[in-house]
Amino acid sequence: MKIGIDKIGFYSPGYFLDMADLATARNADVNKYTIGLGQDRMAMPPITQDTITMAANAAVGILSEEDLEAIDLVILGTESGTDQSKAGATAIHHLLGINPYARAIEMKQACYAATAGIQLAKGHIALNPTKKALIIASDISKYGLNSGGEPTQGAGAVAILIAANPRIMSLDNDAAYFTDDILDFWRPNYSDYAFVDGQYSNEQYQRFFEATFNRYMEDTGRTLDDFNALTFHIPYTKLGLKSLRMVADIDTRPDLFENFNHATYYNRTVGNIYTGSLYLSLISLLEKGSLAAGSRIGLFSYGSGAVGEFFSGVLEDGYKDHLVSDHQTMIDARKRLSIHAYEAMYNVSLIKDGSHQILDTTHETSPFYLKEIKHHKRVYNK
Ligand code: HMG
Repeated sequence: MKIGIDKIGFYSPGYFLDMADLATARNADVNKYTIGLGQDRMAMPPITQDTITMAANAAVGILSEEDLEAIDLVILGTESGTDQSKAGATAIHHLLGINPYARAIEMKQACYAATAGIQLAKGHIALNPTKKALIIASDISKYGLNSGGEPTQGAGAVAILIAANPRIMSLDNDAAYFTDDILDFWRPNYSDYAFVDGQYSNEQYQRFFEATFNRYMEDTGRTLDDFNALTFHIPYTKLGLKSLRMVADIDTRPDLFENFNHATYYNRTVGNIYTGSLYLSLISLLEKGSLAAGSRIGLFSYGSGAVGEFFSGVLEDGYKDHLVSDHQTMIDARKRLSIHAYEAMYNVSLIKDGSHQILDTTHETSPFYLKEIKHHKRVYNK
C-alpha cells in the first residue's frame, strides 16, 4: 500500500521586510544577503499571528469536510509554541473543526519535528488505512534585532495531509536518520530568542547531511541517478545549494541544480520557517518546477540540537492537479514594511500579567487570528 502526501499547503503572514532595507539599516552590503545567503525578503508576523493561527490558516486551505471526519491524528511540529503543557494541536483541532475522535499532540526537535511527525503518521496510516493524519509545521523565527541571525528570520506554516493512496507523493519505505547531542542552536525556556553558534551550525548541518545521505545510499543501493531532485531544510537558500554541491556536479547533473532553484522559490521570499522550511521548499519545487510523475525526490531534514534525516518520495500521476492554487496570490498580497515598522512590530509583545489585552485586528484578512488575551488564555477568532 502506498502512503504519503495527499495534500499540502502553506500560510505566511501578510507583511515582509525586503533584504535591501535590512542591509541599509544594518550597514551591510545587500549582496551578502541576496547572494551570500540567497535571501530576498523575510516574512514578519503581526502580534495577531502565532504558531496556532498560522497552522490553522495553512490547514484550512487544504481540508475538505470528508478530511475533517477521517483525520484521527493531528501533530503540530513547532519550536515556537505558545504553551509548555498544552499542545497547540488541541487548539488547531478545535479551530479547524476536526471530529473529536482524534489524537492531538505537539512535537519538538527544532526544525526536524515535522519530519518525525510525518514518519509517525506513515506508521499510523499503515495500521489504519482508512484514516488520515494532519501534520503541521508552524514557526516564527526570531534571533533579535541587530543579531547575526537577523537576515535568516521568517514566519509561516505548512500543513500536510498523510493518507493511503496519496494524490501528490508516495513516501518510500527508506530513511536514514542520525542524532548527536550538540549545541549549535538552542532556545532556553527563559529566552524569547534563539542562541546560535552560526558557523558551527552550518558545519553540523552539512555533517548530518553527509552522514544521512551516505547511509541512505548504502542501505538502499540507490545512487544519485535514481533522483530527479534533492530538497533540503532551508534556513537560507545558499546552505541548501552548498550542500547540493557536496554530492552533485552542475556539469553532469544540471537538472538537479535547476530543480533546486525551483525548490527555493518561496523560501527566498518567506525566510526560515524552521519546521516547515523543507516542506515549503517541496511546495516550491512541485509548483514552480516541471517534474514528471514517477520522479523521485530526496528530502533532507535537519533540526539543530541535533537530528538529521534523509528520505525520499515518488510523485504521483496528476500531482499538479492537487496542489493549492493561491499561494502566489497570498505572497503577492503581502505588504512591505519599512525598517521602522519592522522594528516596531518586532518589539510588540503580549501581556504576561494575566490582565486583559484586546488586540487591534482591523488589519487581519486571514481566517484565523489572535484577538485577545485574558487570564493568561489566548482567545482566537474562529
Ligand atoms: P555571517 O557571519 O553573517 O555571514 O553569518 P558570513 O560571513 O558567513 O557570510 C555569509 C555568506 O555571504 C558567505 O558565503 C560570504 O562569503 C557571503 P559562503 O562563503 O558561506 O559561501 N558574502 C557575500 N556574498 C556576496 N557579496 C558580499 C558578501 N559578503 C559576504 N558582499 C549565518 C551567516 C548563516 C551563520 C548567520 O546568519 C546565522 O547565524 N544564522 C542563523 C543560524 C543558521 O541559519 N544556521 C544554519 C544551519 S543550522 C539550521 O539549519 C537549523 C536552524 O534552522 C534552526 C533549527 O533547527 O531549529 C537554524
